[in-house]
Amino acid sequence: MRELLPEWVAVEVAAEDDYIAELLPDEAAGLSERAVESRRREFKAGRACARRALGRLGVHGRPVPTTQSRAPAWPEGTTGSITHTAGYCAAAVGLRAEVRAVGIDAESRTILPHNVRDTICLPEELAWCAQRPDEDWWPAVHFSAKEVVYKLWSPIVGTWLDFHDARLTLDVAAGEFEARISRDRLAKSPPGTPEVFRGRFHVAPALVRSAGYVTA
Ligand SMILES: CC(C)(COP(=O)(O)OP(=O)(O)OC[C@H]1O[C@@H](n2cnc3c(N)ncnc32)[C@H](O)[C@@H]1OP(=O)(O)O)[C@@H](O)C(=O)NCCC(=O)NCCS
Repeated sequence: MRELLPEWVAVEVAAEDDYIAELLPDEAAGLSERAVESRRREFKAGRACARRALGRLGVHGRPVPTTQSRAPAWPEGTTGSITHTAGYCAAAVGLRAEVRAVGIDAESRTILPHNVRDTICLPEELAWCAQRPDEDWWPAVHFSAKEVVYKLWSPIVGTWLDFHDARLTLDVAAGEFEARISRDRLAKSPPGTPEVFRGRFHVAPALVRSAGYVTA
């Protein structure tokens, strides 16, 4: 994840101990009492990474509670993002003086079923995937990049965004993506809503990682 973001964004990837780290009192409310063990572990790891990343920016001992939209509530003057998937968890945090939003996502590199591909990808995106020699896992890259787009969109605009509201263009050689928001969605959004979100992606044998940011 580190290589996907500029060096002034603090990035922390979970180590084994982070999955059993103590939560701060204000953070525990973000975890349902009925949460299963795997959910408890990933939530703890995300908060441990988030607090360590904040520490790199000079913000120490501050909790990262959960907002009503389920997004992390970052300490004043900071913003960031958390992701977790099987065996991997990371947090990325920047200073609000430099970034409006940071979004990160990690997904297992899986071949998505056709109905899921159709939900995530627009017909033109599926057509692009079909032209790639290794077409089967490009929908998973679209999924990961679109989760990043939502994590950038949500704190800035504060509304829902459908998967089909963002049209992705991938530059495979550069490992970069661009997401253009649909005219329909922009028409329903406040003036000044960003029309394009950009980010980077990396495909490893087991994991797809994506990240992006919007500058202040
Ligand atoms: C919220 C969502 C983006 C999370 O992504 P995911 O791949 O399922 O899971 P990840 O592990 O990567 O991310 C989970 C973390 O996202 C963060 N998150 C949750 N809601 C969020 C929001 N509204 N904004 C920003 N971050 C959010 C949380 O930190 C959460 O971890 P935590 O509960 O342990 O704190 C996803 O579940 C979702 O609702 N997607 C539908 C909307 C969407 O993606 N639209 C596509 C637009 S192109």
